[in-house]
Amino acid sequence: MPPSLDLILANRAYLDHEAPRWADSPTQAGSGGLLVAVRPVIEPWDGHRGTTWIGAGLGRYDREWVDSAGFELVPTPRGPLRHRRLFFPNATWRGHYADVSNSFFWPLLHLVRADLPLVTGYYPAPATPSRADWDAYVAVNSAFAKAAAEDASAQVCWVHDYQLALVPALLREQGFAGRIAYFLHTPFPDIHVAEPYLRGESRDRFGAFVAGILGSDVAGFQSPADCERFIEAAIALCGASAVPGGVEVDGRTVRCGAYPVGIDPEEVLAVARSAQSPSRVRQAREQQLPIVVGLERGDFTKGIPERLRAVATAFRSGLRFAYIGIAAPTREGVAAYEDLESVIDREAARAREAAFWAGCPFTQVRANVGWTDVVALQRDASVVFTSSLADGQNLVPFQAAIAQSLRPAEQRAVIVAGRDAGVCQTFAGFEQDGLVPVDPLDPEAMSFALSEALEGRPGRISDRLIDEVRRHDARAWATGFLEDLEAPC
Ligand code: F6P
Repeated sequence: MPPSLDLILANRAYLDHEAPRWADSPTQAGSGGLLVAVRPVIEPWDGHRGTTWIGAGLGRYDREWVDSAGFELVPTPRGPLRHRRLFFPNATWRGHYADVSNSFFWPLLHLVRADLPLVTGYYPAPATPSRADWDAYVAVNSAFAKAAAEDASAQVCWVHDYQLALVPALLREQGFAGRIAYFLHTPFPDIHVAEPYLRGESRDRFGAFVAGILGSDVAGFQSPADCERFIEAAIALCGASAVPGGVEVDGRTVRCGAYPVGIDPEEVLAVARSAQSPSRVRQAREQQLPIVVGLERGDFTKGIPERLRAVATAFRSGLRFAYIGIAAPTREGVAAYEDLESVIDREAARAREAAFWAGCPFTQVRANVGWTDVVALQRDASVVFTSSLADGQNLVPFQAAIAQSLRPAEQRAVIVAGRDAGVCQTFAGFEQDGLVPVDPLDPEAMSFALSEALEGRPGRISDRLIDEVRRHDARAWATGFLEDLEAPC
């Protein structure tokens, strides 16, 4: 039995209230990877016990829904969730979220292989935070730690992701008596690849990040490679020493392990069973064309420009298919995301022209698509084309495998995925089973993989892959993690 999960700390709340209380409109939780993975282990609040989720108050009407300390009960499929929101002044939040978390740590953490700023020309160099921005990151992390420490009876506190990396050490400093777990949803960088961006203050900030995580009892990562790279950084930056199963630092042992996240397959299946095919799918079918879909957040880690180049090459080589690319707007107000848009627009214009001469439909839009349409597109695709340059896990292939399980095996899609995404490590050995790793920086190679995939080569999504996705579901991930919190290193 895993220990009871008293506290979840995540930068984002379980849901944001975007409607006033009186409007009585249904509140819907998000569908981000973090939330999907953690949701199955939430323990309903019975009035005395259960999970308390602590997240930032970012919804327009959040303040209307909470009591003076930020608490409310949020309905979830598992029962009521005790929820606490922390509110921050705009400038503090901007420094913490836009400048430190997403302009420094996010691009830095994804430097797992190549020097991406150099080789892509659009991937931003991690920007050294100013003193004021760093202070904002520390202030937000301290507020989360303080809120958690106020729960004197909590036995377990599970801290999530790069926005809250300082919290484990801060919690320990504050004398938190329970067990502290930390999980990094992103990749962890190769310190040698990151080296050019770790000079002076940047090195100190990254050292503080690693030291913060080392405050936990168990630190979890998406893949064994991420875990090894973390241990290497802990040794180099924090004077830790490697011990079996983790590291030793300040006379304590920190268990470090790989725990790849998963999805809730039943939830995807339920949607896939009932979702109508979107109109773009129906149009492609009328033209008897196979459908290639690319769905993601419009993030510079997702390899969208290179993929569009591959798609253009494929059209020019005479391949005929309908391309449906949808990039959801994300992290608006962060400069690097705005710059990316013009790069995507330029590559999309070229691919659109190539599609025009091939007489094929082509869409690349920046839009928020509802969850039902996302699942329907994954279910209806002939090729699911995702090519992250680096990705903690990338749940698109997981969702696609489950959505496609409703189709007969010989009609299923092929998933093409960036080889450095966690999913390609988690399902290594499934290249003949419909999950094809590609070099996301090589449009020629991706174009070839696409042409093969359109022919069902080297293999369509198999029952073996589907079973494995089911086995690696979110519940197995979360319970496995929490069980290790009890086990000695
Ligand atoms: O779930 C995927 C993810 O990228 C997490 O790593 C991260 O915590 C979350 O999304 C953050 O998203 P946002 O910036 O929209 O809050």
